[in-house]
Amino acid sequence: LASDAQAAFEKATDNDALEALRVEFLGAKAGRLKAIQKGMGSVDKTDKPAAGQRFNAVKELVEQTLEAALTRLASATTTSSAEAFDATRPGKPYHRSEWRVGRLHPITQTIERMKEIMGRLGFTAVEGPEVEDDHHNFVALNIPESHPARDPLDNFYLATAVAGQNGTAERLAAAGPDGKPLLLRSQTSTVQIRVLEETPPPVRIVSLGRVYRPDTADATHYPMFHQIEGLCVAPGVTMADLKGVLQMFWQSYFGMESNEPIEVRFRPSFFPFTEPSVECDIWHDGKWMEIGGAGMVDPNVLRAVGYDPEEVTGFAFGLGIERICMRQHGITDIRDLYTNDVRFLAQF
Ligand code: PHE
Repeated sequence: LASDAQAAFEKATDNDALEALRVEFLGAKAGRLKAIQKGMGSVDKTDKPAAGQRFNAVKELVEQTLEAALTRLASATTTSSAEAFDATRPGKPYHRSEWRVGRLHPITQTIERMKEIMGRLGFTAVEGPEVEDDHHNFVALNIPESHPARDPLDNFYLATAVAGQNGTAERLAAAGPDGKPLLLRSQTSTVQIRVLEETPPPVRIVSLGRVYRPDTADATHYPMFHQIEGLCVAPGVTMADLKGVLQMFWQSYFGMESNEPIEVRFRPSFFPFTEPSVECDIWHDGKWMEIGGAGMVDPNVLRAVGYDPEEVTGFAFGLGIERICMRQHGITDIRDLYTNDVRFLAQF
């Protein structure tokens, strides 16, 4: 039987044939070895130990033959695939995709550029918190208790979920140090207050960062966007300084690409924290473009931070950054900026 097996296994050329042989010889139910083992019951008692030893030796031999055949087949496969390797076939091209190269988000690029220009005009960049309290977002900005700007529909007030009765969740307003609800800042003007509270005049700062308003997202709205806030407070600061700074700022920002000088236009407006207040437009690419609000810091604001409005005056402006960035790059949908699609972002 052992030599039978040896001959058969040697002839096997693939795994299927080997498997068939394994079943034929070593199969647990109907294998030829199994049949012999079953027949051992009738062997004479005295012959049994010798017969058992002989059986085991044969079984081991057959198993070794199978093992050898398996090894032979395995190495044969490796050899044949090595032979199939064709060194002359073209390699796999490595596309160095544009977007694999690290780059700054277009909004970050715009922010860096604005910071740099305002820095040259003598304005220091500062940051303020995005979660604000009632005092900095409203009170100190001359926005009274009853003012519509405090409407919960226009602001993201913070709340925590607490366990209510019968396992329901209830909203509990997250309160600031004064017990009033906290909110995501709706404008960067909050930073004016934070700076003025801590710094004696003169003050010349810009603050660029995120603001939040519960707007439904569409091509021109997004519940989060960025503003650049500028503030200058010192003795004798006038509206002419505001206009001059904005003109120089936009001239540097767009001036390189445009042949005609940038013009700045003011239209009367209202903000609780400036008086007078204006909407600001710039003449760019043959069109008036709305860029944001500005004005002279309201005396009430100066008083709230302990400044004397008889001694110092100031101007402030707050401009939307997305609009500028979109205009500059020809982006038509603000949502593209925040979808994080590398194919879009790689273009900038
Ligand atoms: N904070 C105003 C807004 O978000 C803009 C502004 C800033 C107006 C500073 C006047 C002075 O619309």
